[in-house]
Amino acid sequence: MNEMSKFGPQNITAEDMDKERQVTYPTEAFLSREYLEAEKKQLWPKIWQMVERETDLPNPGDWLTYNVADESIIVLRKDDGTLKAFHNVCPHRGRQLISVPDGVHSVRGNMRKNFVCGFHGWTYDLDGKNTYILDPQDWHDILTPENTCLSEVKVDTWAGFIYINMDPASVSLKEWLGRAGEILEYFEIDKMCYKWRQWAVYPCNWKVAIEAFLEPYHVAGTHTQLLAYGDYYAASKQYGLHSVSLYDTREDQFKMAESSGTVRAGKGDDARVSTYELIRENYETVNFTASTEVLVNAASRLKDELPEDATPAEVIAHWQESAKRDDAARGVIWPEIPPEIRAESGLAWGIFPNQNILHGVTFAGPAYRVRPYGDDPGKCIFESYALERYPEGGEPETEWVHAEPTGENWGSVLAQDFGNMEFVQKGMKSSGFRGPMPNPHQEQKVINLHRNLAEYMGMSVPRLFDGKWEK
Ligand code: FES
Ligand SMILES: [Fe+2]
Repeated sequence: MNEMSKFGPQNITAEDMDKERQVTYPTEAFLSREYLEAEKKQLWPKIWQMVERETDLPNPGDWLTYNVADESIIVLRKDDGTLKAFHNVCPHRGRQLISVPDGVHSVRGNMRKNFVCGFHGWTYDLDGKNTYILDPQDWHDILTPENTCLSEVKVDTWAGFIYINMDPASVSLKEWLGRAGEILEYFEIDKMCYKWRQWAVYPCNWKVAIEAFLEPYHVAGTHTQLLAYGDYYAASKQYGLHSVSLYDTREDQFKMAESSGTVRAGKGDDARVSTYELIRENYETVNFTASTEVLVNAASRLKDELPEDATPAEVIAHWQESAKRDDAARGVIWPEIPPEIRAESGLAWGIFPNQNILHGVTFAGPAYRVRPYGDDPGKCIFESYALERYPEGGEPETEWVHAEPTGENWGSVLAQDFGNMEFVQKGMKSSGFRGPMPNPHQEQKVINLHRNLAEYMGMSVPRLFDGKWEK
């Protein structure tokens, strides 16, 4: 569906993107209530969405709700260890089975044997089968197992994440993720667990929020301090529904097979020092993500372990080898990732429509997920988290923490991003704004989001842009 547009020549094609043609699209996707209402019908009930980590439902009877727009889904683990998902609604007269008050991030519990509706007591087992109705004889003979059971929702897992899809006719999760899913599987994200996870209600549309993290093109303008140790020139590429950003480089000396994604040398004369500074600065200011303690420590030793004239390629190779050894010594065995997969895997993946995951060999994060908040196109539920590979038994216990969007809570780099998002939302309302002109080389993930959204929404369709705005 994503390769061929329903809307004819209007929507841009994958080929337009690969050729890096300039594109624009209307701002209604960010601003209009009609668009938000349409998302409730045409987007959220049709797509695979990440719910949580599998480890959040470790035992039979564990359950949680996943809430998006007007939809609420109950996901649970059954006695046989498999997952089930249902719409969170009682088929009798429509009470939510589990009450989810507005503004609550997630409702969860355990030891469930059944779900009893709080209104008239209809009861359902963990297969969604109705097991109790008061006075069924009053309906004469029209009640059947089929019309009194819960409405089932598709559920599947990938990379340790639970996913749901409300559309019974949808493709499988594997097909939905496509090549993006295959590439990320090499990184064994299923073996990682949360280091931290935070959420906030933030004053911008969910697309403004995710777009703020889809492209490194903004680093030079927003995170100026990061330029001291490395350049942030990015390429980006569509993979159907999903897309990737990759560090590109303007200087040939930094092009190397060993360098990809978060593994790269710093700039300047002494790569031993700048590689450490680059990794340390990122780690400390992005809320201790984008690397691990082991990687940072190994980088801190580069100056002592390598001669001054070590090339960037030697620095990277030595750094990775010693971090890998340190990890192995504590029982964290790195996955073997073929070099061509490493190169293709890039820096971070935009998983359509509302996720972005920066991945490494022993960590994933910062990662982001956003959802609409209430009926206001100018608000979203913003979430970020970090995953890491820990030695067995060394995994920290975490919960979702509500954290106001400040530097204190999220690190100074995210605070800089928060400093833009709200004002993008405001700025796009200006009658003087002609329309978005995303960078076709570096911001392709943003363009790809709108290309694919248009396929579901049938509105706000991107088009090729010749540089001339209609007067
Ligand atoms: S609405 Fe659930 S039992 Fe009546
Ligand atoms: Fe940023």
